[in-house]
Amino acid sequence: MTNWPYPRFIAHRGAGKLAPENTLAAFRHGASFGYRMFEFDVKLSADGKPILMHDATLDRTTTGKGRVDALTLGELAALDAGGWHSPAYAGEPVPTLAAIARYTQANGFMVNIEIKPVPGTEYRTGAAVALDALSLWRGAGTPPLLSSFSEVALEAAHQVAPDLPRALLLDTLPADWLERLRQLECVALDANHRELDAAVIGAAHSAGFKVLCYTVNDRARAANLLSWGLDGLITDAVDQIAPQS
Ligand code: G3P
Ligand code: MG
Repeated sequence: MTNWPYPRFIAHRGAGKLAPENTLAAFRHGASFGYRMFEFDVKLSADGKPILMHDATLDRTTTGKGRVDALTLGELAALDAGGWHSPAYAGEPVPTLAAIARYTQANGFMVNIEIKPVPGTEYRTGAAVALDALSLWRGAGTPPLLSSFSEVALEAAHQVAPDLPRALLLDTLPADWLERLRQLECVALDANHRELDAAVIGAAHSAGFKVLCYTVNDRARAANLLSWGLDGLITDAVDQIAPQS
């Protein structure tokens, strides 16, 4: 990707912890602080439909129980994904990727779709999410940035939608991290911020890759990372870190 179209400030799971993660309400809250790009987690329902959810199970963030991929889209629609956070958000639904595409495109916002497969569904999830993203964002401005900790999911996304940009998520940097980025034909490294310093960012840039990181909630740390040339910073602190550019 020669022309990097994404802003440097990216809201994590919509609005971090200020509203129920991975719900449309969270996106609206993040947007109210000026955020124009949103990271969120996508996995598949039992009937193969991409929906937003971080955990592999429903228990923490919905009124449901058990594995997310045990319920169909219709069954997921009956759950409350907001009441666990606070009464103000009770009744908030589990969004589909299609609903998020409608909201973000209508408002000119950009997205980072983290492909987060339920364990054992890596290939299927990578392919289905990339195909859905391709069709939802066709002719609709800036393409979504796909990312994943799963190299299998990224490979599947590459096969079905080679033109959608991809970033490899790494919680710790293995010795061959640059080689992995090359093999997967990623455009960016997306690392835990604790793994980054000026040398790592410089090495990625010299090799032609952009660098994003998660989850930076401290203003001084954010300033350091940006001074080293960081290209994208994913944060929960949407009320404290102003998205200047
Ligand atoms: O995409 C970056 C970040 O969201 C990865 O961690 O667990 O919050 O999905 P997690
Ligand atoms: Mg995520």
